[in-house]
Amino acid sequence: MMDSSKLDHSAYFGRVHGILMYKDFIKFWDEVEAFEARPDDIVIATYPKSVVNPSFLSSTLRGQWETQVCLTFTGTTWVSEIVDMIYKEGDVEKCKEDAIFNRVPYLECRKDDVMNGIKQLKQMASPRIVKTHLSADLLPASFWEKNCKMIYLCRNAKDVVVSFYYFFLMVAGHPHPGSFQEFVEKFMDGEVPYGSWYKHAKSWWEKRKNPHVLFLFYEDMQKDIRKEVIKLIQFLGRKPSEELVDKIVQHTSFQEMKNNPSTNYTILPDEVMNQKISPFMRKGIVGDWKNYFTVALNEKFDTHYEQEMKGSTLKLQTEI
Ligand code: A3P
Repeated sequence: MMDSSKLDHSAYFGRVHGILMYKDFIKFWDEVEAFEARPDDIVIATYPKSVVNPSFLSSTLRGQWETQVCLTFTGTTWVSEIVDMIYKEGDVEKCKEDAIFNRVPYLECRKDDVMNGIKQLKQMASPRIVKTHLSADLLPASFWEKNCKMIYLCRNAKDVVVSFYYFFLMVAGHPHPGSFQEFVEKFMDGEVPYGSWYKHAKSWWEKRKNPHVLFLFYEDMQKDIRKEVIKLIQFLGRKPSEELVDKIVQHTSFQEMKNNPSTNYTILPDEVMNQKISPFMRKGIVGDWKNYFTVALNEKFDTHYEQEMKGSTLKLQTEI
């Protein structure tokens, strides 16, 4: 395996519980661990695609929203918008009143007081929708103690790594990911923020039988979005009327979200997120990895994948 230490990320990342994490977040980790959940909080958890270097976020935001910014990960924005639509009973205009990162604050995101997910959450009325990229074992204990509902979205690791790579490239101030092959090596080694994808996905898969946890697959959402939306509505204890489901499916389609400033991150200036390099709503498809993996890299990835996931019943889809 290539020496992935070649890509020096030490200016950006430190370690928390042994996993790579943003230095700015680590400074306030005690506050994350001590976070007080409310029983009606909903947690949306995913493995990250990437996070912008928080120091870049002190610059002024474009548009009418001026509070903290957190950048989201693979499929997080999609599920967040669906859950917020459910809570707002299908009221599209209400959802458009604010950016997704204010409606669904990012728990552990921190840059002094410029970005402070915990502060945002403390000021929010219930029921709160909480975004996190923490694995099940690192999630603050309070969420488990209070039996909060949690949604985990899992996506095929190969599509995650492609999406992750582009995110590194488009976000100014982010360490350069190197070549795609080099980045995949880092990913396989778990030497990316939030650590090993394999451990992360398994940590939540092990919780899937907990009645408070809903484990979803991005590929299932692509295959039959109505079915997954109904699942989400029922999980949140609401009635999936046909009208509500129709509205959600329409409003949260890839094209709608790509054209919606409250979900597409275009309110951020180019020096924070350069969508000329790659749009935030990039492709939104299953199987894009086939355009990036060479045959050799794919074989290596598959062999490594088998080793990492040995003994786990978690099976991912690569096609729909
Ligand atoms: P790609 O980079 O593969 O296009 P996150 O919100 O966690 O940052 O995830 C971003 C990924 O989810 C991107 O994947 C993006 O295109 C995809 N995505 C966001 N909204 C989507 C939607 N409504 N339908 C399908 N994919 C969506």
